[in-house]
Amino acid sequence: MRNSLIAVLSLSLLGFTSLASGQAEPIKIGLFGSETGGTATFGVSTKEGVMLALDQINGKGGVLGRQIQIISEDDQSKPEEAKTAAEKLINRDKVVALIGEVASSRSLAAAPVAQAAGIPMLSPSSTNPKVTQVGDCIFRACFIDPFQGSAMAKYAMNDLKLKKFAILYDVKNDYSVGLKQFFSEYVKANGGEIVTELGYSEGDNDFKAQLTRIRRANPEAIYAPGYYTEVGSICKQARQLGIAVPLMGGDGWDSEKTAEMGGDAINGCYFTNHYSPEDKAPAVQEFVSAYKAKYGGKTPDAMAILGYDAMRIMADAITRAGSADPKAIRNALATTKDFRAASAVITIDENRNAKKAIVVLKIENRVPHFVQSIAP
Ligand code: PHE
Repeated sequence: MRNSLIAVLSLSLLGFTSLASGQAEPIKIGLFGSETGGTATFGVSTKEGVMLALDQINGKGGVLGRQIQIISEDDQSKPEEAKTAAEKLINRDKVVALIGEVASSRSLAAAPVAQAAGIPMLSPSSTNPKVTQVGDCIFRACFIDPFQGSAMAKYAMNDLKLKKFAILYDVKNDYSVGLKQFFSEYVKANGGEIVTELGYSEGDNDFKAQLTRIRRANPEAIYAPGYYTEVGSICKQARQLGIAVPLMGGDGWDSEKTAEMGGDAINGCYFTNHYSPEDKAPAVQEFVSAYKAKYGGKTPDAMAILGYDAMRIMADAITRAGSADPKAIRNALATTKDFRAASAVITIDENRNAKKAIVVLKIENRVPHFVQSIAP
């Protein structure tokens, strides 16, 4: 009794001192992502981007005269852990907003928690359309997959003049299943053909059975909308089976690990992405140099720039809200308009998605190079 009284007293004294010295409480924002586990580069890159933006924002005095504090949770690349992370951040840490996740399946697991609590959640990079459909508290800083899937199909058909495609996708991954559908719809609607469509599961490492069937179907390209954890091996095994046609994918290919695992087998392949570090736009180049300076010369991937953008979009929303109240932040996020982010000028639309251009990259000598940008 006595101890707790003292604790309460000293706490309030502390509170008083910090108010008296003009030091307001920090604004707490939760960040959840895959810092370990299967797709660790997703969470690590995102956090690096977020922390770079945080340094800059706090370095300029924070927002509303307060510093921003990021409290982060590692969900180990597991959907159920993403849900738990969101619960912890909201209930235990009392964050006023959430940034996360990268993988659509994990955003889909966490979003109902944020929605039920009325805490705005901003996914930097989950592209499956279902994510923001969870409710009016769920936002994203990127384009969605109907656009991404059709953009790759459009490029393959119009620019590469291809018509016959096979698809090899991850059957339990919402992102992969969505892209398979959107790619195939575009192909069929535009006079092309899907000669075969086969699945695999995350963690598989032998794709020879599917690839043998694909070889028999004789496509002009293979669309493989999976994550970097499998696509490198898929490319390698395709080449081992004598399949020479290009493989194509989406943003899930974006990791230094794709080249590590795929080696030269990824040369000549294409994927769509949120940005290219080769983009000469000043906003992109400023970000690339700041990131390299902070992280030992490492080239930022798409998750890094989207994490950076998400943090800045959130800080901008809090500033415009004039308050760190979750509801006010939600309303301000919904009216984000012409925000000068690093990856693009971002407007959040009525479905809480960002309208942005997409880039097509071609891999040569194991490095993705910019070939085309497609407007939304
Ligand atoms: N868009 C992917 C998804 O929704 C995640 C991702 C984003 C992967 C950016 C790589 C780069 O699951």
